[in-house]
Amino acid sequence: MKTLALSGGKPIRDTEVSPWPKWPVWDHNEEKALIETLHSGVWSYNGPKEVEFDRLFAEYTGVKYAISAANGTVTLQMALEACGIGVGDEVILPGLTWQATAATILDVNATPIMVDVCEDNWCIDPKAVEKAITPRTKAIIPVHLYGSFSDMDEILKIARKHNLYVIEDCAHKHGGEWNGKKAGSIGDIGSFSFQLSKILTAGEGGIVTTNNFEMAEKLDALRNCGRRPIIMDSSIDKGAGQYSDQGNFIQSGNFRITEFQAAILIEGLKRMPEQNRVRDENGIYLNSLLASVPGVKPMKRDKRETKEAYFNFAFRYNKTYFKNLPVKKFRDALTAEIGIEVAPSYIPLNKCSLYVPLTKPARYKLNDQYWSEIDPKRFNLPVSDRIYFEESVCIHHKILMGTKTDMDMIVAAIRKIYDNASEIL
Ligand SMILES: Cc1ncc(COP(=O)(O)O)c(C=O)c1O
Repeated sequence: MKTLALSGGKPIRDTEVSPWPKWPVWDHNEEKALIETLHSGVWSYNGPKEVEFDRLFAEYTGVKYAISAANGTVTLQMALEACGIGVGDEVILPGLTWQATAATILDVNATPIMVDVCEDNWCIDPKAVEKAITPRTKAIIPVHLYGSFSDMDEILKIARKHNLYVIEDCAHKHGGEWNGKKAGSIGDIGSFSFQLSKILTAGEGGIVTTNNFEMAEKLDALRNCGRRPIIMDSSIDKGAGQYSDQGNFIQSGNFRITEFQAAILIEGLKRMPEQNRVRDENGIYLNSLLASVPGVKPMKRDKRETKEAYFNFAFRYNKTYFKNLPVKKFRDALTAEIGIEVAPSYIPLNKCSLYVPLTKPARYKLNDQYWSEIDPKRFNLPVSDRIYFEESVCIHHKILMGTKTDMDMIVAAIRKIYDNASEIL
């Protein structure tokens, strides 16, 4: 008789009987806020919900300014443009990230320089950053990936030494803290996503954070067809009348958020700190159990990570302890045992089928030099490769929203695969 669920045995968790916590989370408060917005007739353009959400998010993140926008891709583009980055400039980013981090660098006509990540936390390797700096480097984009934090002390040190901007990609890190400072308040600009899978969501959406008035003014204009915001104090109503056509000062498009998104985000933000606390507590517990399972390694948690925020819960797999069972098979087996998708990390950008700049000569073939510079294949990312092809095991953050018994079940499933790996080899 077969034991593992992947080969027809009984799974560790019957999700019909014990479903995982649901994501997204919402209740009558979202319903009420959406109906209120519907009836108000103010469905977009600096409405009261948008102004209120920007104020609340700035306060929560501990920055002076927060400016919401359509998604976490355009917020990266706005951040780059607010830093004045464009033709001839190089921007350093980790090779292990979502394609948007690199694609937005292309979209401002700058050159993405992909460097490798640290094997123990999968975030940008500061030593690799230092090596990649040239006279053309203008910015570094650390991505706080899944449940990890980039080493912001080292990144800031390098940035100060070479006079570079730091744009934190916080798409996974709402509310996470480094040395008591929230993600998005450490570099020059923070960029967040509110896409459906993220820990604060309106289906789609994004926001940028900064303490710098000039940057905030540009960011506000960039999301709003270039209109110069007359009032940056978000506690004051920024009605359309307070923008002047005469005052336009930067070319841009429409990257605005809607009032419906802002209405949902206000309610979600009320819940998020407690959800983060639960995820952090369960993450610590689960990692403590994983530390004693042969062949799996918890992600390194730096002492300076004073609060963790998880987009995915991730850990590292070593097949030699599992009779050489390939990581893909291990993930499939774990999926079958616990009834939730277990995925690999992002694919390194030099191999990512969604990051293919050379498919768009009409846009990116500015000249022959640029064309060869943006070829992702020229970058070598051995650590990212190893993580993606051999080690990564990632599960959506909703698994951390349950109980300690749920965490025990995940560990029981891994041990079950360990004991029975030969069955699926
Ligand atoms: C690291 C990272 N940056 C940026 C983004 C882009 O965010 P959005 O999907 O809201 O455009 C994502 C989305 O998954 C992401 O994971």
